Amino acid sequence: MNVSDTKKEFPIFDNKVHNNDLIYLDSANSSQKPRVVIDRIYDFYTKEFSNVGRSVHYLAIAATNLYENTRVSVQKYINALDKNEIVFTKGATEAINLVANTFGQKYLEEGDEVLLTELEHHSNYVPWHFLRKSKNIKIEFAEINNDGDITLDSIEKKITNKTKIICVTHLSNVTGAILPIKDIAKLAHSKGIPILIDGCQGAPHLKLDMQDLDCDFYAISGHKMYGPTGIGILYAKKKWLDELPPYQGGGGMIKEVNKNVISYGDLPNKYEAGTMATAQVIAFNESIKFLEKIGIDNIEKHEKELLNYATEILGNNNSINIVGNPKNKGGVISFTIEGVHPHDIATILDEDGVAIRAGHHCCQILHQKLGLPATARVSFGVYNTKEDIDQLDKSIEKCKNIFNLK
Ligand SMILES: Cc1ncc(COP(=O)(O)O)c(C=O)c1O
Repeated sequence: MNVSDTKKEFPIFDNKVHNNDLIYLDSANSSQKPRVVIDRIYDFYTKEFSNVGRSVHYLAIAATNLYENTRVSVQKYINALDKNEIVFTKGATEAINLVANTFGQKYLEEGDEVLLTELEHHSNYVPWHFLRKSKNIKIEFAEINNDGDITLDSIEKKITNKTKIICVTHLSNVTGAILPIKDIAKLAHSKGIPILIDGCQGAPHLKLDMQDLDCDFYAISGHKMYGPTGIGILYAKKKWLDELPPYQGGGGMIKEVNKNVISYGDLPNKYEAGTMATAQVIAFNESIKFLEKIGIDNIEKHEKELLNYATEILGNNNSINIVGNPKNKGGVISFTIEGVHPHDIATILDEDGVAIRAGHHCCQILHQKLGLPATARVSFGVYNTKEDIDQLDKSIEKCKNIFNLK
């Protein structure tokens, strides 16, 4: 993979930050956007705009076809069995809320258990917490080991005859741990339990095959896949989408409405109420093409090289403590420097144009377990280079000097 050519496809890197080149190490938060995606939004609004699925005029039909083309591209990209297993949402958060809300309504009762892990993002905890409040369900957490990893064993230990769904991240946005989700799905299914995967960090970096992974639900965030904000995907096995009730009500999701009775539309309309993020969905097709052009195998290899290089450099720095050491790890490194608050690290790095994230990364359960109020985090994307990591290293040295650290 030719990173310098790839990087040229991202207009953001033509800009300076505090008079420095931008070193963007915050892709786990949100990735930058290639020109093809930005242009597609502009072109759609200037030449092709119409709402979809409603009118019969030329623009409406053309826009509807474009919108549906993205659904087919996503289906192929993640190897889902049926294009109607792809539901567009506003983000992964909404995708998980959709499942918690509808699954909770239909299948959860007082005393039932939802099994999460201590690695989960608030997006895969708070929607389940709502059900704890409204239906008195219980939430259990599979515990991390000393390496910040979740093993199959730690999941198995927490399964009881009350467990009704298991919801786990594919790739931790803090420790970078990649969970054995195929094995977790097998284990869950052997006990008749469905499984939801928070695939926010998995989808941009790992090869996905829904039929092989055999998960019931997989939530995806478009803006972390070089796509626009405002677009997410819920993959769900068709049997669930058939069985579950609709999530939101409104135009577009109905078949027939009268004063006493309402029937709902076929899949996937049943779950796409109201005017959707049309331009974003259509532009997301370009993100998929962009990822396909580079090839997910090349992306995985490139990010693994960056991860190894950065781990060696940061690991050799006596002041740095890397959080977690999972067996299988993606391109995310969280760390602390003793005596320096992560927000100070991020602010000092920013002066050099180095963008990282600091805070709890929406994972307060994990930070509480680790006894850390916050961490600094670097995360990689297709545009990062080893030179970016060299600059990160230099800026960290500057930070240490300011705080008189050796
Ligand atoms: C692991 C994880 N889950 C969920 C989310 C929320 O995704 P979205 O912004 O698409 O709602 C994020 C985003 O930070 C994430 O990293």
